[in-house]
Amino acid sequence: MAEIIDGKKIATEIKDELKIEIEGLKRSGITPGLATILVGENPASQVYVRNKTSACQNIGIYSEQHTLSSKIKEGELLELINELNKKPNIDGILVQLPLPSGIEEKKVLSAISPDKDVDGFHYHNVGRFFCEKSYSEMKREELFLPCTPFGIMEMLLRSQVKIEGSEAVVLGRSNIVGKPIAMLLLSANATVTICHSKTSNLKGVTSRADILVAAIGIPCFVKKDMVKQGAVVIDVGINRMNEGIVGDVDFAPVNEVCRAITPVPGGVGPMTITMLLVNTTTSAKRRLKMKNEKLSTIFNF
Ligand code: GUN
Repeated sequence: MAEIIDGKKIATEIKDELKIEIEGLKRSGITPGLATILVGENPASQVYVRNKTSACQNIGIYSEQHTLSSKIKEGELLELINELNKKPNIDGILVQLPLPSGIEEKKVLSAISPDKDVDGFHYHNVGRFFCEKSYSEMKREELFLPCTPFGIMEMLLRSQVKIEGSEAVVLGRSNIVGKPIAMLLLSANATVTICHSKTSNLKGVTSRADILVAAIGIPCFVKKDMVKQGAVVIDVGINRMNEGIVGDVDFAPVNEVCRAITPVPGGVGPMTITMLLVNTTTSAKRRLKMKNEKLSTIFNF
């Protein structure tokens, strides 16, 4: 049986570290603030946004939720983002995806100020992390890394999984998970392959993986015969079925061959939310730094 990589436990460790930082910020007069925007009535999105809001409340981050009808005009959404960009008590803005048809995702994401883009989806932030040499450099620079890939990296590192020199295979090429996790694994010196719906000999490729990341949104897609003995398997899937939530990996049989595996639920999901809290706190720390710099200019100390 494989080791279970407990995302809930790792997320709790990170949140305990974060609480100390948030208390320090509050003593300096800064409360981190997150604004979430939900457009429409997608039930999964409603759950995600609710979970993000309650995670903020539990850790002491101010949060405000803006719920808009699916019928709103793109211009109204852009106007709201513009207002939030200017609000001094808001450090992070998150527009839950997907957006209803008729609203252009690219336009909306690039309307968020790059300084408040705690999802790490703005072109500016994508470009910054694309150009950075190593994962440790990205951490040192406190870049806004997209939350799910950021969470996966922290899970691997905190579980002592060796990334450098490993063969990593990513199933899925989305902008939210597939492409950025491939870049992050590369920046930590893995040799990375991205697979997608047109990949030929898929099983041949996945069977080479020391680290296999499944992010395709197809329930139980990854079967035992696609996984190398001793691999580390990261399941990003959250598929709502009659029998409950299942991942993209056929958990029980794959568990027999791999060395370590993330469960669904309780694996990547809690990490995604936690890294949003991390990015929001990072943004608030920048606000404090700017405030202190301004004060030191005014009083010349
Ligand atoms: N939809 C699915 N995952 C995400 C995420 O990480 N951020 C946002 N904003 N929307 C999502």
